[in-house]
Amino acid sequence: TTEFGDSVLLWVGALTTASLALWILYRLLSGFRIWVMGNGDLLSPKLGKWAVVTGATDGIGKSYAEELARRGFSMMLISRTQEKLDDVAQSLERRYKVETKTVAVDFGQVDIYPKIETALSGLEIGVLVNNVGISYPYPEFFLHIPDLDNFINTMINVNITSVCQFKPLFPHFRAKGVILNISSASGMYPVPLLTVYSSTKAFVDFFSRGLQAEYKSKGIIIQSVLPFFVATKMTKIRKPTLDKPTPDRYVAAELTTVGLQDQTNGYFPHAVMGWLTTVLVPINLVIYFGMRMNKAQRGGYLRRRKLR
Ligand SMILES: NC(=O)c1ccc[n+]([C@@H]2O[C@H](COP(=O)([O-])OP(=O)(O)OC[C@H]3O[C@@H](n4cnc5c(N)ncnc54)[C@H](OP(=O)(O)O)[C@@H]3O)[C@@H](O)[C@H]2O)c1
Repeated sequence: TTEFGDSVLLWVGALTTASLALWILYRLLSGFRIWVMGNGDLLSPKLGKWAVVTGATDGIGKSYAEELARRGFSMMLISRTQEKLDDVAQSLERRYKVETKTVAVDFGQVDIYPKIETALSGLEIGVLVNNVGISYPYPEFFLHIPDLDNFINTMINVNITSVCQFKPLFPHFRAKGVILNISSASGMYPVPLLTVYSSTKAFVDFFSRGLQAEYKSKGIIIQSVLPFFVATKMTKIRKPTLDKPTPDRYVAAELTTVGLQDQTNGYFPHAVMGWLTTVLVPINLVIYFGMRMNKAQRGGYLRRRKLR
């Protein structure tokens, strides 16, 4: 019986080691496929002449507009401020010799979609980037958020409704189409003191992954994109670092993952952070440290405001 026990233990050990080795090999190969080989020229105007980007006049959205124009797409830019839209559109036309159109709307409102639909009518669309999004001015306890009802409504309209209202686009897709929904790493777990933001981003992630399963067989790619910090106006990060890249750097990396990952952190250092915070660190610790970090930020913000 001891011999039998020993050989069972041996087999269990051998199988565990073999499956662990296979798993590591699989992760290495798929990592190589995504982060080194990329998806080639999947994102080209062969998908359809036009690319649509919301929130296209700053930060990550502006970088998507630039990169897609560089790849030869005609650009439909949808954002809030007409002068900023004109600036970006002119710069894209000059630098990349592409056609552009703009629509100025406030995604905080829900009556804007017929205007967008009219602007899109007759266009053959290959790519849509649902990028527009807003966060908190500073981390805050839910009940202390100034003008709370209005805050919740606006955040839901900008972050969630804008993503759900893409349905008029489907008839514009030729055979294939790509939709990138910009969620956030804050949608991967609850982030205290940014609770409403984090929850809207969790919605975007679930919505995208559910729809991808529904429409994959129709040739439509729907990707959930979950960045950690990117140096933009929203995060007020002025000095980019390896883990807080410029939006240009982030977007260049993200676009190589389209078609290879339904859900992505989009940029290798962010993928490592995503893996650490979901697989390695228990969720309670992630929430605890999120609370500590945001409490410190909130304190700093409120002190600076008092000093002014
Ligand atoms: N930056 C990050 O670290 C980070 C991390 C994770 C996820 N994200 C997500 O990435 C997306 C882009 O973020 P970002 O940092 O690039 O933001 P950003 O620099 O603040 O730029 C936001 C863009 O959206 C437009 N916009 C804002 N509110 C609008 C409204 N109500 N109606 C129409 N347009 C509006 C802005 O136009 P105006 O200039 O005219 O206001 C601007 O073009 C967001 O969905 C955000 O949640 C960002």
